[in-house]
Amino acid sequence: MSGSAGRFITLEGGEGVGKSTQARLLQEALKTRGINALLTREPGGSGGAEMIRELLLGGDEERWSVRSEALLFAAARADHIRRTIKPALAVGRWVICDRFIDSSRAYQGGAGLVADDDIMALHQFGSRGLMPDRTILLTLPIDEAAERIRKRDGDSSDRIGSRSDDYHLEVASVFLTIAQAEQKRVRMVDALGTVDQVSGRVLSAIADLL
Ligand code: TMP
Repeated sequence: MSGSAGRFITLEGGEGVGKSTQARLLQEALKTRGINALLTREPGGSGGAEMIRELLLGGDEERWSVRSEALLFAAARADHIRRTIKPALAVGRWVICDRFIDSSRAYQGGAGLVADDDIMALHQFGSRGLMPDRTILLTLPIDEAAERIRKRDGDSSDRIGSRSDDYHLEVASVFLTIAQAEQKRVRMVDALGTVDQVSGRVLSAIADLL
């Protein structure tokens, strides 16, 4: 593969696995290789999508049904792709995105009991089904992840992050199912270890795209 074409990389995983830190370190590692990647996140990454983020993550648990939630994530994603991701890829720029469609499949799909086909149909409708070239799934044992969330957020976790341990266990299990089913796109990376160790693993997991 040529190093000149833009690549679309997403980072996925449960709460507290270090995605945001690793996304930033990947951007820095690419920079040292002469690649100026755009770093973005979901929900958010464009004006409209950031507004939807506030709606989704604020307020109490009962604010949205899981189906409304799935629609709002899909709407945010459609805006993010149209305004931010597609224009960057169109000029050959790499894009690193902190969460993307697999988060909807895990949080609203398997853990929220919405069928995967329905989540993918919304993605097809909103965003023509755009998929990443590579997805890094950061994995942690659930106890370690819970500990990191406590350290990070105290009591201020958002509407979705504050759901039950059972919900988050299901989220983790759906991510693993996706990784096993789509091994060409999705690479699992062990998120235990120092930040530098993990960032080395992340870089190895995209090395074939460079
Ligand atoms: P984060 O910015 O800390 O990753 O928080 C985003 C929250 O939104 C997190 O709890 C995961 C959740 N989420 C979904 O439920 N579905 C999605 O499609 C996305 C992108 C995020």
